[in-house]
Amino acid sequence: MIKPTLTSLLKINKPLIIAPMFLVSNTKMVIEGMKAGVAGCIPALNYRTLDELRASIIELRSAKVPGGSFGYNLIVNKSNIKYKDQLAVLCEEKVDFIITSLGSPEETIRMAHKVGIKVFCDVTDLAFAKKVETLGADALIAVNNLAGGHRGNHTPEDLIRELDSKTTLPVISAGGVSKKVDLDTMMAYGAVGVSVGSPFIASLESGVSEEYKQACVDYGAKDIVLTEKISGTPCTVINTPYVQKVGTKQSWIESTLSKNKTLKKWVKMIRYLLGSNAVTKAATEVTYKTVWVAGPTIENTTAIRPVADIVDTITK
Ligand SMILES: Cc1cc2nc3c(=O)[nH]c(=O)nc-3n(C[C@H](O)[C@H](O)[C@H](O)COP(=O)(O)O)c2cc1C
Repeated sequence: MIKPTLTSLLKINKPLIIAPMFLVSNTKMVIEGMKAGVAGCIPALNYRTLDELRASIIELRSAKVPGGSFGYNLIVNKSNIKYKDQLAVLCEEKVDFIITSLGSPEETIRMAHKVGIKVFCDVTDLAFAKKVETLGADALIAVNNLAGGHRGNHTPEDLIRELDSKTTLPVISAGGVSKKVDLDTMMAYGAVGVSVGSPFIASLESGVSEEYKQACVDYGAKDIVLTEKISGTPCTVINTPYVQKVGTKQSWIESTLSKNKTLKKWVKMIRYLLGSNAVTKAATEVTYKTVWVAGPTIENTTAIRPVADIVDTITK
């Protein structure tokens, strides 16, 4: 069975999406990406208000060039209280594509397809891939064990081959790509394109502090650790002296309370609020509380460079 390529799905020149990154992604990065012939995606949660979200879409639409494309990432589970309103704005403004994460994409697929928006769903295993296939997703974002953020458990090869052979959907691989050889390898396993995050944190255009960008240059793959301290769900961060000091495990009290069915939800919510507050501060301000989310591909980040140069390194 011949599956559509990422370039044909999004009408882009090169098979790459600049992946959605909480606090990092912004319109400047996506505009430079579109000019370089790729797609860019921004988490809807990066905007405090719906008006700001709408304004960003209008900005991207007016900057759109042939060969480029833009989309938004929606957290579709209950932790995102703005989800329904964000979905309504994305549909009204007819963005090119939506990437869903955490939770069932059923409603998003139904609403988005009514207005011709493509929906790609984050998956980490075959069971969830089968579910979103039944719901009518247009492609899978296969998040592997080399990804930055909430990574998966499977190697790129195992995940891509399994999802490609056992579903009808095109597979876009997320995780572990920072050079042309990585892109070629994922395509050889059966991916139709890649979604790349970490290498773009240290881009000139990204919205984070110089300290965070420089940390991506100075630290490498061996410095990436998983922490439960941000949301309760393990997330990759740079093992800075601050992370070493506070540790990466939930506290005894949190893990004990998490075992209680009723309290579990609240522990998770409080942990999320505290964790995301720390990440927001570390990403945007100078603080000794350096909780910087990044994946192992920062190994190949050797300087703070324009988005277009990073795209070239991966695609040329
Ligand atoms: C700093 C950072 C923030 C992220 N934020 C989000 C997010 O808000 N939503 C999401 O679906 N994925 C998020 N991700 C995951 C990326 O979209 C993508 O799957 C991942 O970066 C791919 O792996 P790579 O970093 O090796 O390229 C984030 C990743 C990083 C590194």
